[in-house]
Amino acid sequence: MRLISGIKPSGSLTLGNYLGAIKNFVKLQDELKDTDILIFIADLHAITIPQDKVNLRKNIKDIAALYIACGLDPNRTHIFIQSEVPAHNQLGWIMECNSYIGELERMTQFKDKKAKQVQGVSAGLLTYPPLMAADILLYDANLVPVGIDQKQHLEMARNLAERFNHIYGDTFVVPEPYIPKTGEKIKSLSDPSKKMSKSDDDEKGCICLLDDLNIIKKKIKSAVTDSDTKIKYDLTNKPGISNLLTIYSCITGMAIKDIEAKYIDSNYAQFKADLAELVANEIKGIQDKYNDLIKSKELDAILDAGKDYANYLANRKITKIYNKVGLGRKR
Ligand code: TYM
Repeated sequence: MRLISGIKPSGSLTLGNYLGAIKNFVKLQDELKDTDILIFIADLHAITIPQDKVNLRKNIKDIAALYIACGLDPNRTHIFIQSEVPAHNQLGWIMECNSYIGELERMTQFKDKKAKQVQGVSAGLLTYPPLMAADILLYDANLVPVGIDQKQHLEMARNLAERFNHIYGDTFVVPEPYIPKTGEKIKSLSDPSKKMSKSDDDEKGCICLLDDLNIIKKKIKSAVTDSDTKIKYDLTNKPGISNLLTIYSCITGMAIKDIEAKYIDSNYAQFKADLAELVANEIKGIQDKYNDLIKSKELDAILDAGKDYANYLANRKITKIYNKVGLGRKR
């Protein structure tokens, strides 16, 4: 069994990334004892949208340090940077050649991002899903933990695996997504109809793992909630409070109905104050570990080891794929 996932360094990591993805990487790392685990930083994906090179390099290192600060154990999980494993691009191209423009243009994220681009839409934004498929298929990964927004990309990866296997013979494992029941889509604190996102223009809606703790508390206390005062999970009529209940549940592990029962006689202000403390406490632990790691040499050693292991697996696989397709000379 093998598990793989990654995060784009296109901004600071958010509470959404933490609860929807990283917390599950850690949970699965601790539960699936016999599974080989690879978690990477998807820097090639970040440049589908223009990035400042100094910020990009900072974000790459920050994510590496935050992975470990959040609980990934480098003795158990291989952590690496996507661009340091060239086979991702090699297979990415082959995947592009097996994708149809029509299916790529139908991807929801492509349509959303295209609509937001003011300075032209890069071809990379369109061909992002075949590269993501390559990230997964290169390692014969069985399981891919992601938030719900990546589900469509995962389906594309499954389709591409099946399509390739059909044309060239059995080559790829068809991967399964792992999407958490609670936390699959953490919403913006200022507009709970939208996903919490690092590219959000409204800073109040998004909590970053490296935000000042007092600012984090303030953002939670001023989160948009509905006019009635009951602390009740109801996605249709009370999306704001439902989002906060989801965050509470992800952080504490308590079931939503137990949280509702605990706050049955309480009001929004008390609930938000408690949640603000819980979130700030959890993030404080992460920031303390991050601060130690980011200065240390340990981080580079971990990324070097991850790079070597990933290149070893990926190069073995890409040779087999080239032979299947008939590229170059037989190796
Ligand atoms: P990215 O960088 O946008 O997000 C990283 C992970 O965080 C999850 N996520 C959320 N989950 C819940 N609530 C939110 N508000 C929220 N925001 C983000 C995402 O679902 C994702 O799991 N294309 C990917 C990166 C990638 C990848 C891969 C992932 C590249 N190759 C191969 C898995 C396997 C992306 O842009 O994620």
